[in-house]
Amino acid sequence: MSWSKSLRQIHRWISIIFTVTVAANFATMAFGQPPAWVVYSPLLPLFLLLVSGLYLFALPYMVKSSG
Ligand code: HEM
Repeated sequence: MSWSKSLRQIHRWISIIFTVTVAANFATMAFGQPPAWVVYSPLLPLFLLLVSGLYLFALPYMVKSSG
């Protein structure tokens, strides 16, 4: 599996983790103010999505190194 393909898979699966953390925020909000670690839990996956997503965006423009 090439580097760009595994990065696409990583981006894909982190997006699921990110979605779960956002859903957990809404779920815990039903019981009042969520604890701080729940509130901030989407930030790490969001940061990893940003980095891997920017790489995926740049891939088509890095034509010489075909990924
Ligand atoms: C935070 C900044 C993000 C950037 C810069 C970004 C960027 C990208 C780019 C460039 C692609 C490839 C599109 C293509 O050419 O096919 C992509 C794919 C994708 N992104 Fe993101 N993304 C970000 C965040 C997210 C978030 C928040 C989610 C969902 C919760 C998400 C879910 C996905 C999925 C599921 C794919 C398709 C992966 C695949 O091909 O299997 N991304 N993203």
